[in-house]
Amino acid sequence: MPAHSNLSHCGDDSLDSDFELISPSIGQWPHFEPALRLGVMASGNGSNFEGIQKSISSNALDADIQLLVVNNQGCGAEQRAHRLNIPCQVLDHRQFETREGLDHALVKAFLEADVELIVMAGWMRIVTPVLIEAFPNRLLNIHPSLLPSFKGLDAVGQALQASVRISGCTAHLVQADVDTGPVIAQAAVPVLQDDSRASLAARIQSQEHRILPWAIAIAGLNWRQTI
Ligand code: GAR
Repeated sequence: MPAHSNLSHCGDDSLDSDFELISPSIGQWPHFEPALRLGVMASGNGSNFEGIQKSISSNALDADIQLLVVNNQGCGAEQRAHRLNIPCQVLDHRQFETREGLDHALVKAFLEADVELIVMAGWMRIVTPVLIEAFPNRLLNIHPSLLPSFKGLDAVGQALQASVRISGCTAHLVQADVDTGPVIAQAAVPVLQDDSRASLAARIQSQEHRILPWAIAIAGLNWRQTI
């Protein structure tokens, strides 16, 4: 139960439920010639992975997903990759003795797939400098909070527990500390009086699906300008 649920309630926040603020606002999509070559990492459902593919097929994001890597065999993201005909590799973290071991395997897979940019789209493992330094400024993460608030696990639950009235999501470049690194894009949404974890997570996720492809375009543009 959110801590603010006992406060007297003035104002009807159901009127605000569609409110969102995206910054930087989504404008003209850049054209990439050749198309950006993407790698994606996912651990679970994979709605962000599919969201990226949807912005590609709708001709907004000028990119191709070369490879999806999942760490949980049979997860939703892997099933989506089969349906979408996108190459998918399983690298089960349980088969590696160290985090670095898994990250070396990730680097090898993405180098072989010749990707330019890697997107952690619901990757629920801590990554190490092995991966971060192999793709400097080319590793993006999406997190369901307005960073630097509510880093780590259960960011949506943390936001409800803290009684914040605005939350959201952040697409950022990955640095060695968990959920830190230069912010590329953020979206803010209201937290409603009667929100559950599920309802707030859904409101945030629909914005993740909008800002993540946009952040990929921005990061891709920055990357292409350096080569
Ligand atoms: C997303 O909400 C993403 O922000 C979160 O996992 C979810 C994955 O959903 N990531 C983290 O919490 C990383 N710290 P999806 O599998 O449907 O894309």
